[in-house]
Amino acid sequence: MRIKNICCIGAGFVGGPTMAVIALKCPDLKITVVDINKKKIDLWNGDLDQLPVYEPGLSKIISKVRGVNLFFSTEVDKEIERAEMIFMAVNTPTKKEGEGKGYAADLKFIERCAKQIAEASKSDKIIIEKSTLPVRTAEKIKNILSVNKKKNINFEVLSNPEFLAEGTAINDLFKSDRVLIGGENTTSGLMAIDTLVKIYSTWIPRERIITTNVWSSELTKLVSNAMLAQRISSINSISALCEKTGANIEEVSKATGMDSRIGSSFLKASIGFGGSCFKKDILNLVYISRHYGLNEVANYWESVVNINNYQTERIGELVINALDYQNINKTVTILGWAFKKNTNDSRESASIYLANKLLSNNITIHIYDPMVKESLIREDIINILKENNIENEEIKLRLSRVTVFTNPYDCIKNSSIISLCTEWDEFVEYDWKKIFKIMSDPKYVFDGRNLLDKLYLESLGFRTFFIGKS
Ligand code: UDX
Ligand code: UDX
Repeated sequence: MRIKNICCIGAGFVGGPTMAVIALKCPDLKITVVDINKKKIDLWNGDLDQLPVYEPGLSKIISKVRGVNLFFSTEVDKEIERAEMIFMAVNTPTKKEGEGKGYAADLKFIERCAKQIAEASKSDKIIIEKSTLPVRTAEKIKNILSVNKKKNINFEVLSNPEFLAEGTAINDLFKSDRVLIGGENTTSGLMAIDTLVKIYSTWIPRERIITTNVWSSELTKLVSNAMLAQRISSINSISALCEKTGANIEEVSKATGMDSRIGSSFLKASIGFGGSCFKKDILNLVYISRHYGLNEVANYWESVVNINNYQTERIGELVINALDYQNINKTVTILGWAFKKNTNDSRESASIYLANKLLSNNITIHIYDPMVKESLIREDIINILKENNIENEEIKLRLSRVTVFTNPYDCIKNSSIISLCTEWDEFVEYDWKKIFKIMSDPKYVFDGRNLLDKLYLESLGFRTFFIGKS
């Protein structure tokens, strides 16, 4: 099938940047990203410095391709019909109710998309799962497509999971370690795989494009995320041991990672991993394993999430203990709300869990993040309080103890503790002498990212806590 028009359903952190890069690399393709959220589409069509996704390098690409061969629209049916290839990049959150609650992926958006594709299509299409999905979802999608289709047309379903990391999305898309495409071993399945391979091979070396069966592709995405998260939980578990024994986690991590069999990436101890993928995908893996009666396998992977929760909890506990004196100003500054630097995404950020813990202990919090908007920070806090069944009146009361600042020094002023949660580069550049002067006692810095210079801060008079350094 010759592809001229691509439609991507879902203009989020995955759909937006991925389609921008395909549009840049394949000027002959016309790509339209559609979304049911009109506000989001308006932002994609609006000011380049107000795009709904912040990624280094993204706005420059958008400025080149938008209106040329990349378009953003809310006309979902029309764009589905026009396209020969459709990417599904809608979100797949963890289920909040029903069978699999708290573990399984909620496929309602994917199912709705599949139904809409079936109903709006008048010609053959290649459908691509971009969203992270449980193994065997392609089968489900195929069933929905065939039950709801209006004409005798053929749908080929491929799995093409996205491995980009937020904050480095553009670079990851330009130079992917691998592109994975799963499809059926039938004549039409192999032709569909070949069509997608051709698109990626415009800029990705052919040997990095791997083709597999659909189930391997779907499972690989879950396993890749689980393995990355497992390394962080492993090193975080050791960070607690370092604090007891006097070993230094950075030395341990460096020396361990220098073994080429182990490798150095994803061994940075932190207050806990966040982001929309790791926790969700591991819980999904846990659910699937339990479903097949593999309880030991499920428990093994669940412990990765448990250690992550433990790490955030125990650091929160230490912050609270540091405030456990009479006559001190119980105000904590949370520096950084994003789940990692260089993104405006805060999903599953450790700062949300920390804020919740501090607020439930009557502590006042000041928050500063260079990229995350105040409206999102407040929404995150309201959501976590609701998830913890806090009543509306109490939510209001707790929110009255939260102030979000646009200037870091105003934020820190009169706080007695700084808890650094995101590794934004600018935090290193701050005038820490000035910060020492404007803080209240005990002038404690909890560095949840081991970002700052411990000895320097201590030489200025700060008390400090760095992860895995006693
Ligand atoms: C992606 C993946 O798709 C998800 O499976 C993965 O685990 C994380 O990354 P992401 O792009 O980060 O999701 O999600 P988000 O930024 O929330 O974007 C999804 C978009 O889909 C939203 O803008 C939402 O409005 C849109 N959507 C959702 C639709 O257009 N139609 C729907 O039916 C549902
Ligand atoms: C992850 C995967 O890396 C990516 O391949 C997949 O497509 C989506 O999920 P993302 O969540 O965007 O990407 O960012 P990532 O860089 O993996 O970081 C996830 C979390 O782990 C962040 O909170 C980060 O700060 C934390 N982290 C990462 C650590 O705490 N230590 C590390 O050594 C690495």
